[in-house]
Amino acid sequence: MSSKVSWAEKHPCPPDNKQVVKLLPTTISRCYGDYPHRIPTWMYLSSNLLTHAAFELSEGSHFEPADIHAGDELYYLQNGEIHVHQPVTGEVCKAEKGDVVHIPKGTPHVSYNFGNEEATVLTFFAPKIWPTAEDGLVLDNKLPGNVLLPGMKGGWKGILPSADSPFPASKELKKFPVDGPWSREQGTISVISEEKCLRFIHGKEVQNLVKIYVSNDYMTLGTFHIASNRRSDIEKSNGDKVIHLLKGRLTVEIEPEKRTGVSSLRFEMEEGEKLFIPENVTHQFTNFYKERVDILFVVAPEYL
Ligand SMILES: [Fe+2]
Repeated sequence: MSSKVSWAEKHPCPPDNKQVVKLLPTTISRCYGDYPHRIPTWMYLSSNLLTHAAFELSEGSHFEPADIHAGDELYYLQNGEIHVHQPVTGEVCKAEKGDVVHIPKGTPHVSYNFGNEEATVLTFFAPKIWPTAEDGLVLDNKLPGNVLLPGMKGGWKGILPSADSPFPASKELKKFPVDGPWSREQGTISVISEEKCLRFIHGKEVQNLVKIYVSNDYMTLGTFHIASNRRSDIEKSNGDKVIHLLKGRLTVEIEPEKRTGVSSLRFEMEEGEKLFIPENVTHQFTNFYKERVDILFVVAPEYL
């Protein structure tokens, strides 16, 4: 897909009227790829800063042609195991449940499910998903290359670092695991497992655990963990934020500093639900329940 679609940058709300909303799949969900390598996708959010979708790969399936985007793409693997192929360099990365894959802007990629269970992938794009003419990115329909790479699609063609060691590593926020501009120049794909993520104790008044998987000049993806009967500080991000509740039950209060008595805008979230929180909207998370809350969050462009 190479042209701008009608819902781009304004679903579910336009840039000049962003609202806090729960995100649901809609009729703009579609299939991606050419028959017989089409896969189902679900579109949840397309703001002027961040796009969020999901796709499934059933056992033995992959999509074609290669995908390429006008922004970085991050995968969060909810289930299963996939192999991501960079068809120009031959690089192949393996990602399992809980892993995050970083695909830099302009890097072609094809995802395969060679495993024994369905793979479900949450996917995030910033600043944009699809290239327009001025981006100068052309989707090459010959990729992944029965023509270009006859017989063997994994031929190693470069000296890029392998996905299992996606470094020169940095421990700096906004350059983790690699510097964004550098990764786009190289066209190299990284996989970040839970063991490799950066860990922080976050909060001035109330401290909670944050794990950062990717943080660069385009976006930050991490998980936020709130133990039983704890809350977060009141916070806001310098960017659009999507949260996806991985575990537990969560209360999200919007603009809690304006609270009068019991009155505030509040969302109760169950496992698997998603909430869009636009840039600069203050919010506070509370876990009133016994089970720890695990939140997946993505912010674009700036986390803090
Ligand atoms: Fe993609």
